[in-house]
Amino acid sequence: MRAAMTWPAGCASRRISRASRSARLPARNTRALVLALAGAACVAGTLIIRAATINMPFADARPILAALREDLVPAGLRGGQAGNQPAAAWPAWVSRHDADIRARLEEGDEDSIANLTLFGTSFSSEPRITELQISDMAAGKPAPAALQTRIGRMASAAAAPGDNEHLRFVREVAQRKRFDPQTAAGQERVRRWLSDRVARIVAEYRARAAVIFDPAATTVDQATLFRARGLSSDTTIFPGFAIEQALDALKSNDLLGPRAVRRVAIVGPGLDFSDKEEGFDFYPQQTIQPFATIDSLLRLGLAAPGNLRVTTLDLSPRVNHHIESALARARRGSRYVLQLPRDDRFHWTPFLASYWEHVGERIGESAAPLPVPAGAGTIQVRAVRVRPDVVLSITPTDLNIVLQRIDTRSPADGFDLIVATNILLYYDVFEQGLALANIAHMLKPGGFLLTNTQVATLPSIPMELIGYTDVGYTDRPEGDRVFWLQKIAK
Ligand SMILES: C[S@@+](CC[C@H](N)C(=O)[O-])C[C@H]1O[C@@H](n2cnc3c(N)ncnc32)[C@H](O)[C@@H]1O
Repeated sequence: MRAAMTWPAGCASRRISRASRSARLPARNTRALVLALAGAACVAGTLIIRAATINMPFADARPILAALREDLVPAGLRGGQAGNQPAAAWPAWVSRHDADIRARLEEGDEDSIANLTLFGTSFSSEPRITELQISDMAAGKPAPAALQTRIGRMASAAAAPGDNEHLRFVREVAQRKRFDPQTAAGQERVRRWLSDRVARIVAEYRARAAVIFDPAATTVDQATLFRARGLSSDTTIFPGFAIEQALDALKSNDLLGPRAVRRVAIVGPGLDFSDKEEGFDFYPQQTIQPFATIDSLLRLGLAAPGNLRVTTLDLSPRVNHHIESALARARRGSRYVLQLPRDDRFHWTPFLASYWEHVGERIGESAAPLPVPAGAGTIQVRAVRVRPDVVLSITPTDLNIVLQRIDTRSPADGFDLIVATNILLYYDVFEQGLALANIAHMLKPGGFLLTNTQVATLPSIPMELIGYTDVGYTDRPEGDRVFWLQKIAK
């Protein structure tokens, strides 16, 4: 994840001779983690489900249950792991757990609203709250005065959002919680709710820092860092850069040849609503990753124009509906406009800066960006108008990657590439194992998964960790490690 603090200082971010550092692992290295562990959605009248999806069969879950330590297995599936009882419990457990996972979206939406309260500029001219101030609050220092003003302004904005889609969403979520921002009592409840949500963000910041800086924290602690958090939809341009670096490394290692990629899946493409660090709300919500991935594949010659299909797999109705609406507009000839801000407070590496200058060139053309409002800071913005044919190459699909998969008729129908960034760390080890099995099922033999979460490869899952790319973004000690996992040809 734009992994503030996740990787140790100096891992990749200060290298300026190369954009990133990649390593191809020796074949025998790949299963080390196993040993460590052994022991139809309808939105606003639009039908979202496009591909045939099925629940994961118990036959694929059984070996994962058997490989994990008992304490890593959900209580409802424990006991007699090799016996028949979990098999009988499986279908009901899957539907219950699917509902539980989807219920986490609500919390994620509320986190996004808290981030908007901290950083948005459309409803308040108070200074944006900084990460340093959040870190001070996490250390017990008083909140900056601007915070209470921002909360008050957001409560008023929820009462009269106008046509601002961010603020309309705040009102919608407030109303779902049965707060009426039109009344004085409702305003007070919205203010209390926002204060609570901000307090939760601060507490999570503290908890995350505790894991990241705890020398005793294990790889598994880090890889499952958000397992108890709400499911956020937020996204930025950073994973686009990281995936381009990883694809470039696969190409230079002769692991992906010219025009080898025809079918791609993006698990959890996300929506840029108001990210926790560099997010803004002066432009409409947008999805970035499907476009950035297509652009990278074309730039690197790994896909041919007109011969690439992208399937997005997401359980968020908001994300799916957003992409479905973009498709409807593209069918009428409209372009999809990406607004790509660059905050001058952060010192991007020359490689990220160069990526930002060129991203989108293969899928559209530059356009005049939206003006940056006063109070948003010193920001440069690039805008790209994406061609309708590119938008129409995307198929959104409602799918919970932990429990579901697209029913590929034969291995050859599978994807050449699956991208899953900033999603698997929202799940525990068992759920990650299930997700990896679903991903393996959907890949062609020899196909690749690129993910920035170190998931365990288990003997029953035909996936092999064959290398990784370390990517730095700024001059700060932060970055991502993008793992390359390949489906083993049987
Ligand atoms: C934090 S966003 C990351 C977006 C983007 N991949 C990125 O790296 O910036 C996580 C995305 O994954 C989706 N997601 C979370 N859990 C999922 C699941 N079990 N199955 C499918 N999508 C999921 C969310 O709805 C959201 O779109």
